[in-house]
Amino acid sequence: MCGIIGYTGDRDTEKVLIEGLKKLEYRGYDSAGIALSGEEEISIYKNEGKVQLLEDRVKEANVAPSFAGIGHTRWATHGKPSQLNSHPHRGKKVVIVHNGIIENYQELKGELAQKGIRPISDTDTEIAALLLDQLYEGDPHAAIFAAIKRLEGSYALGILFTDRPHTIYAVRKDSPLIIGKGQGENFIASDIPAILEYTHDYFLLEEGEMAEITKDNINFYDEKKRPLEKEMLTADWDEQSAMKGGFPHFMVKEINEQPQVVRATLGQYARGGNLFPNQESVFDIKGSIYIVACGSAYHAGLSGKQIIEKMARIPVQVEIASEFRYNNPILRKEDLVVIISQSGETADSLAALRLAKAQGVPTLGIVNVRGSTIAREAATVFYTAAGPEISVATTKAYLCQVALLNLMALKMAEKYISPEELQEKLQQLFSLPTLIKEVLKKESQIKAIAAKFKDAEHLFFIGRGQDYALSCESSLKLKEISYVHSEAYAAGELKHGTISLIEPGTPVVAVMTDRSRIAKTAGNIKEVHARGAIVLCLTHPDVDCSDFADELITLPECSDFIAPIVGAIATQLFAYHIAVARGNDVDKPRNLAKSVTVE
Ligand code: M6R
Repeated sequence: MCGIIGYTGDRDTEKVLIEGLKKLEYRGYDSAGIALSGEEEISIYKNEGKVQLLEDRVKEANVAPSFAGIGHTRWATHGKPSQLNSHPHRGKKVVIVHNGIIENYQELKGELAQKGIRPISDTDTEIAALLLDQLYEGDPHAAIFAAIKRLEGSYALGILFTDRPHTIYAVRKDSPLIIGKGQGENFIASDIPAILEYTHDYFLLEEGEMAEITKDNINFYDEKKRPLEKEMLTADWDEQSAMKGGFPHFMVKEINEQPQVVRATLGQYARGGNLFPNQESVFDIKGSIYIVACGSAYHAGLSGKQIIEKMARIPVQVEIASEFRYNNPILRKEDLVVIISQSGETADSLAALRLAKAQGVPTLGIVNVRGSTIAREAATVFYTAAGPEISVATTKAYLCQVALLNLMALKMAEKYISPEELQEKLQQLFSLPTLIKEVLKKESQIKAIAAKFKDAEHLFFIGRGQDYALSCESSLKLKEISYVHSEAYAAGELKHGTISLIEPGTPVVAVMTDRSRIAKTAGNIKEVHARGAIVLCLTHPDVDCSDFADELITLPECSDFIAPIVGAIATQLFAYHIAVARGNDVDKPRNLAKSVTVE
């Protein structure tokens, strides 16, 4: 989604803004722009396409010195990607950048038209700029608070006024924004990596608050325009972890970080055999568990359902957040609603959380980004310790989510299983880093197999139970970065229609990590193999697939309990190498955004 950076200080503003925008590229965008506030005027540079293009144009333009500036990467919602629709947008006295969606922009546009004011772009953002411009009569606070009273929807706004060249203003609702504090310089940003090069200290801007930022001061005001004291936070992510560190792409770097981040995630909640200390009440579930999430986080939920129901016999329903929020779900006070989200900002997941809270149902967030909205609003939060995930395609955050759900399943099953079994399963979980490294060693084999599948037009992943959950995630991973059409199917369901798509040469990846269902899945694989499918099997070393496997990836010796986590590394590498072989922009796939903050 869109990204915001703002800077005021003694450095070259345009350089800080462009470097910041580069760090926000991973969020997904289709155009970029900056506004520079100088003595005389605010100059705007913007274009459709990459930040690199913007940088080249700014260098050529030889820009005048500026005191403050705001920058933006746009992911189109209202109006196609174009220079005109790119941010920043301006009125006569004001320039803004905006993340989010102004839902009542048509109504506001009509009101402005009656006063003879017409936008030149198709965006909702320009309407907000024109509205603010109308309301500004020399008092920024009054104008901003009056404007946000009129804005419906979600917004994080960075604002410059032509007659206040040293000051940036910021305000937000349902779209995150942080204010970075440096020495003699200050920042605004939609995401921490954009400012890590300069400072680790930041403030979270809360709903309805406004920040007024000069190079030496940051002042906060509440909705009634009263000054606010806010707590400063310090980011524990180092800048290095937000860089590629010698790998060709963030995605493969992040795949390789999985041994460490899974260990760190589990270590937080399992100390000395004591699981989730002081969190007993979260696990006292008398009703059902609803896991609500989007994309890969939803697939992590599918995997969690399998393991929780199997071990703890608590019913789990896994729901797609964008459906759940409008389904008028039947929740009870004895249920637990678990929201899984890497970013902690996904609009649909956040809406689902709020819906559950409004019905008085206990909520738990499984979140990667500390201080994110879901982390702050959920009654309880368990953090994945995946660190900054830059690649749009999630790998390490997904794996940490599944590992954490397995640990939660153990906690829920604690009273039903023997201490020996508990210890054994815990040991299995803590052996994950070693097992993941074993799969990482198979990268060249997986790359060679990927080369054989790279020209496929369609590809199926099939499996049962936990392997169906992994199939769903593997299929999503492949399609989002390789643009190869792919479907995940419950292996036993194929013959009810979809098997008609199998013809000689159709690639099918068969996931077989659950020993209790391997014989059944094998039967289904034989059915597709007999119809000419080329079958890649992912399974344990002791499983004989010689009758039907054209290609084989074996897992290191491991139990079924953790096998889907170990197996995910193989399908991540498979997707990665197909995407690389097809020459795609792996970290920034087309049309996608890292953090989906609009519905
Ligand atoms: O930040 P979240 O975990 O809430 O994001 C959810 C999905 O948007 C995300 O998992 C998406 O599906 C990824 N691109 C998958 O790689």
